[in-house]
Amino acid sequence: MKTEIVFLCNQCGKQLLKWMGRCPGCGEWNSIVEQEVSRSRPAVPPVSGDSKGVVSLSEIGGDSQQRLKTGIEELDRVLGGGIVKRSVILVGGDPGIGKSTLLLQAMGALANRGQTVLYISGEESFEQIKLRGERLEIDARGLLILVENELEEILNKMAVVAASVIVLDSVQSVFSRSLDSQPGSVTQVRQVAGQVVECTKKGESACFIVGHVTKDGALAGPKVLEHMVDTVLYFEGERGHPYRILRGVKNRFGSAAEIGVFEMGDSGLSEVSNPSELFLSERPEGVSGSVVTALVEGTRPILAEIQALVTGPAAGQGRRTCLGTDSQRLALVIAVMEKKLCLSLADQDIFLNAVGGVKATEPAADLAVAAALPSSFTDRIVTETTLVFGEIGLAGEVRRVSRASARINEAVRLGFTRIVAPQSNVEPSSYPQGLLVTGISHIKELDRLVLK
Ligand code: TYD
Ligand code: MG
Repeated sequence: MKTEIVFLCNQCGKQLLKWMGRCPGCGEWNSIVEQEVSRSRPAVPPVSGDSKGVVSLSEIGGDSQQRLKTGIEELDRVLGGGIVKRSVILVGGDPGIGKSTLLLQAMGALANRGQTVLYISGEESFEQIKLRGERLEIDARGLLILVENELEEILNKMAVVAASVIVLDSVQSVFSRSLDSQPGSVTQVRQVAGQVVECTKKGESACFIVGHVTKDGALAGPKVLEHMVDTVLYFEGERGHPYRILRGVKNRFGSAAEIGVFEMGDSGLSEVSNPSELFLSERPEGVSGSVVTALVEGTRPILAEIQALVTGPAAGQGRRTCLGTDSQRLALVIAVMEKKLCLSLADQDIFLNAVGGVKATEPAADLAVAAALPSSFTDRIVTETTLVFGEIGLAGEVRRVSRASARINEAVRLGFTRIVAPQSNVEPSSYPQGLLVTGISHIKELDRLVLK
């Protein structure tokens, strides 16, 4: 068999003709590795003239409606209402964030509902999994465990064990004997995932593939697999914080914009069904620079606190640091405020944070940013019971956002009594007693209305 040497990026899978220090595809440093690939191409079958296999859309019977629910609502929602048969779901995340815990709990829940499920681990021993199971109080007969690193063995077992859901934990720990490259390399990871996808599509089960997000150049990350699977979820969170967010990135069977919120405790992950309460729980009162806004994540409105810290003057150009917020949108809001309100922020260091690990990258968060910046700059506060949302345009106009009434209802539920929103979103007749909704159409009106 003829082989040739190619260079592959471990992060994005880009193929290059020579080694480079930085991948031109994704910009990652030190991620290019040398790999030997086979040059022989399979023979192409001759063209045959029949239309077998082409069907009318209306004749296709759908079993896609049958979704298997785990009963863990935060997970089911992110999946689009449950697990679809024969689908492959990639769960990515940093090592140690809780992927194995989440999936073992999900498998335990399915087994408790009478399903037979198979958890394949290439990383932990039977004893370790047993200990984790005890900690998570999982003791279901239907939960089968396999400890194995070899792909061919795994495929055999997947075909014989009649499981409704299979977990492969993790893709980087499994290797195929048919390839020379190291476990975890781009070719191995792609081969393993490709074969598992093929096996799942032919069978009767659904499959979760766990992929560690890697910083080390030697291991391929889950990004190289995103195009191969049906659904991509990322499990995120900060070390030292108990909160974890399961975020949909791609979903062939539902909305990809959903999030699920969990809390990691001593006996595993528990669901947080009221994320707004959580994200606002440690909110300081009566301090400048803190403004609450209403975001929409998938189908759910979520309230989040935006904090700004404006300090200066700095020597030269001020620094801009964004955590959980969009730096491009911050730059836009600053530019509009400088031009339209004659505010001078160029020499100020600006820190912007969406508290609690939530992502406030929606344009609807603009108005809260525009309130938080002068609040911190001039040390005036926005009242705790005021909530602000709206998109800002380049002319300083405040633009309409989607799902305004869902945002307002969530704010009312959490006790906000005053809302500043885009004028075009205001529908006076539909608000409950005691709620004051003020519509604005230009950023100029904001200062007078919310700061004191
Ligand atoms: P794990 O699921 O092993 O992470 P991953 O599979 O993503 O690498 O989670 C490991 C971390 O979670 C570890 O630091 C311990 C913590 N943990 C708890 O806090 N409580 C628990 O009940 C469990 C099982 C783990
Ligand atoms: Mg793990």
